Amino acid sequence: GTLPMYVDPLPKIPVVLGYYDFGGVVLPKHLIIGMYQKKWKFHRDLPETTVFVYGTSESSASFPGPVIETIQGVSTYVTWLNYLPDTHILPWDPSILVAETRMGGVPTVAHLHGGIHEAYFDGNPYAWFTQHFRELGPNWSRLTYLYSNDQHPGNLWYHDHALGLTRQNLLAGLLGPYVIRNPAVEDPLMLPSGPEFDRHLVIADRSFYSNGSIYMNATGNNPDVHPQWQPEYFGDAITVNGKAWPYLVVYRSKYRFRILNASNARYLHLQFSNGMDFTVIGSDASYLAAPIITSTIILSPAEIFDVVVDFTTTVITEIELTNDAPYPYPGGTPASLPISKVMKFVVLPGMQIDPSVVPTSLMSYPPAREQDATVTRYISLYEFMHPVTGTPVDILINGKRLEDPVTETPKTGSTEIWHIINLTGDNHPFHSHLAMFQAIQVQQLVKGQTLLTCLQEFNDVAACNVGAHVTGTVVNVPEHERTWKNVVKIEAGTMTTIIMKFNMIVDDAPYPFDATAHPGFVYHCHILDHEDNEMIRPLHLVNQ
Ligand code: C2O
Repeated sequence: GTLPMYVDPLPKIPVVLGYYDFGGVVLPKHLIIGMYQKKWKFHRDLPETTVFVYGTSESSASFPGPVIETIQGVSTYVTWLNYLPDTHILPWDPSILVAETRMGGVPTVAHLHGGIHEAYFDGNPYAWFTQHFRELGPNWSRLTYLYSNDQHPGNLWYHDHALGLTRQNLLAGLLGPYVIRNPAVEDPLMLPSGPEFDRHLVIADRSFYSNGSIYMNATGNNPDVHPQWQPEYFGDAITVNGKAWPYLVVYRSKYRFRILNASNARYLHLQFSNGMDFTVIGSDASYLAAPIITSTIILSPAEIFDVVVDFTTTVITEIELTNDAPYPYPGGTPASLPISKVMKFVVLPGMQIDPSVVPTSLMSYPPAREQDATVTRYISLYEFMHPVTGTPVDILINGKRLEDPVTETPKTGSTEIWHIINLTGDNHPFHSHLAMFQAIQVQQLVKGQTLLTCLQEFNDVAACNVGAHVTGTVVNVPEHERTWKNVVKIEAGTMTTIIMKFNMIVDDAPYPFDATAHPGFVYHCHILDHEDNEMIRPLHLVNQ
C-alpha cells in the first residue's frame, strides 16, 4: 500500500564538529567515523529498514550521516572505518568494473565531494577497503584522510566512491553533509542562523519492499551483457533527512535551507505549493555574488542549493514542497504522485522576532574568464546501445573507461576550457574532483546523430568536425547557477563550455600507485548508475 504523507517530523541531522574550540581558540580535530549496518525507520508505517550508515558510533550512526561542521583554515582529520558485514544488502553486478573481494565484505571508500585536498585523501574508486581493512584496493593509500578546509566557506558532502559499487553504497545510506564555515566573514551577513533556522534538507528517492528493506533491481535491462546493472535507479518514495515525506513546523520567520539532492539518478524540480519564492544564496560549495529570487530550482543528483525561505507573509499555513521533474530528465516519465511531493511546512501562528536579513551582496570570488585558460579540451558524453533492446549497455566519456590511460592532465594552478558535448538524450550532472568550475556558454548541437555516429566510430573531435555542429540556439545558464560549482547540469544535445579552475591545491606528493594508470582524482557523471558503468575518467594533476 502507499504510505501516508506528512506523518513524520523532519529529523535534525546529528552534528559532529571537525575542530576543537577552546574558548575561541580553534584547533584541528581527528574524527573516527565508522560505517555500520543498522536498522533505520524511514516512515511511521514502514517496518525498519536495514541500512549502511556513517556515524561516530553505531548507536549515533544515521541516514544521512552526521553533518561534519568545519572551520575554514582548520584541518579536520578523519579515519574512516568499515564495520560492514560480509555481504551487501543490495544486489550488484560482477560484469562491470567493480571492486571484487576474495574474502567477502563490502568494499567502501569515503570521498569528500567538493573538497580540495591531495589525491591521497580523495577516496579514489580503487582506494577501497573492506571491514577492518581485511582487504585493500590497489590504490589504497592512507588510514587517515586530511581535509585542510582551506577553501572558501560552503556546502560539501561526503559519500562512498567504491569502484563499481557507488550506486549500491549510497543507496544503502553512505552519505552525509559537510560544511566549511568562516564565522568572521559569514556572521556579518546576518543570514538565518542557529540549529532552528539554518537547516539541511538531504533529499533522496528510495523504493521499499513492504517488509521495509530497500528495493533495488536484481536484473538488468540487458542481462546478456550486464545481469544486474540498469541505467538509472528511480525510487517511488521521496525521503528528506531519512524520513519519507516528512513535515516541518516553522515559525513565521526566515529559514536557511541547505538543500542537497542525494538521489542516485533523480532530478528534482522544486517549488512551493503556494508559489512562494526561494532566495538562492549559494550553490555547491560557493556563495552567489548576490541573492537571486526564483520560484523554482532544478537540482541534479549531487547538486546543492543554499536558499533562504521567508515564511513571514504567507497566508496559507500548510505549504508543500513539490517536484515535477520527469525521470530520466528531461524527456522521461512526468513526475506524478507520490514522487511529485517532497515534504510539508506547517506555519505556526503569531509573529516571530527575526533578526536575520538577506544582504544585497554575499561573497565575491575571482571571475571565470576565458582568457585565463591555457588549455582547451573536448569531452564527449555518449551511450552505447544494445542492438536488440535499444537501451544503454555502457555510458562513456570520449568512448573511454576509467581503466584506460589518463588523458586529462591539467597543471597545478591552471585554468582550462572544457567543452562538454552531450550526445545523449538525457541531462548529465558533470562533476569533477578538485576543480571548481562555471558554465559560461550552452549551445545546442545540430545534426547531433551524425556527430554521435562519427564520434563513436573515430572518437576524434577534429575529424568529426565538432565545431560545425555547434550552431544551434544559445541557452541561458540560470542566474542562480552562476558561481564556482562542482556539479554542472549538461543539457541533452548541447555543447556546454565550462571554465575549470585547478588553482587551489599543491599536488606534489609522489603517488603510492601507478600514476599514469590510475591517478588520484576522477571526473564523472554524478548519476551513480552512469558513473559505475563507466561514465568516469581519471584526472591527474601535474606540477607546473
Ligand atoms: Cu560526489 Cu566523485 O563524487
